[in-house]
Amino acid sequence: MPISFDRLPVIAEGKTKIIYANPDNPKTVYMRFKDDITAGDGVKHDVIAGKALVDWKTNRDIFGYLNRRGVRTHYLETPEEKVALVEKLDRKINLEVVTRRVAAGSILKWGDVDEGTRFDPLITQFHYKDDPLHDPMLDPGYIDYIVRSKGAKEFMTMREINGQVFTILEEAFARFAVQLVDMKLEYGIIGDEVVLIDEITGGSFRLWPYAKEKVDLQQGNVLNELDPAGRLDKDTYRMGESGGQVLTKFEQIAEITARFAEL
Ligand SMILES: Nc1ncnc2c1ncn2[C@@H]1O[C@H](COP(=O)(O)OP(=O)(O)O)[C@@H](O)[C@H]1O
Ligand SMILES: [Mg+2]
Repeated sequence: MPISFDRLPVIAEGKTKIIYANPDNPKTVYMRFKDDITAGDGVKHDVIAGKALVDWKTNRDIFGYLNRRGVRTHYLETPEEKVALVEKLDRKINLEVVTRRVAAGSILKWGDVDEGTRFDPLITQFHYKDDPLHDPMLDPGYIDYIVRSKGAKEFMTMREINGQVFTILEEAFARFAVQLVDMKLEYGIIGDEVVLIDEITGGSFRLWPYAKEKVDLQQGNVLNELDPAGRLDKDTYRMGESGGQVLTKFEQIAEITARFAEL
């Protein structure tokens, strides 16, 4: 029987999902995907019919894969289309945790780095999650200081999980000749654990197809090895492509992540 969401209490509503209480198990919540897409800290906003379905699929397949690989995530199962059942947070952490392999996007404007620069080791940055304040980045030196002097071990855990997830997904996408360029994840506290929460969908990362059959990705700059114009991610929307084109790209992502079941 389909879940009657109009009768369930809404716990939170964000830009892309609605969170509902689960009366059958208060330790869990339903995460229901919306067709909405936003960019520029929520300033650009559209509704793309079919986006919720494709995001739900991608999210399900990525979280399922991460769980199988032993990552501590909130994801439990998928009770019906466009709905995920997840562990309920005890405390939200208002941070967006970004890991980068290849320089792209905002870092080209605020950092002294050329597009396509390859980061090895990966770099991970913490942004305070607040759209009106434009998600400002936290000073890395200050993070190191509070980890050292105040034992703020949550930052260590988030950095570690972000790196682990990035590596797992980078390797998985590589099987399909696509480079995971960068990625944004969110965390919360459940019990006394730092847990990966929220969603991982086409809006969570940049994905650039390989430019040729044999790529050399062990260089300082890998721009010539990749095909940013063929990007599959939400940059297509940020750059003004139509809803239909964005949906087609997101469907291509879902086709790839569906095959993570084989890995
Ligand atoms: N496991 C969880 N338990 C409770 N709330 C969650 C969980 N995972 C994500 N959320 C919350 O879901 C809400 C909606 O998400 P989203 O639409 O992505 O919001 P935003 O617009 O803030 O990015 C957010 O407030 C987020 O913190
Ligand atoms: Mg979100």
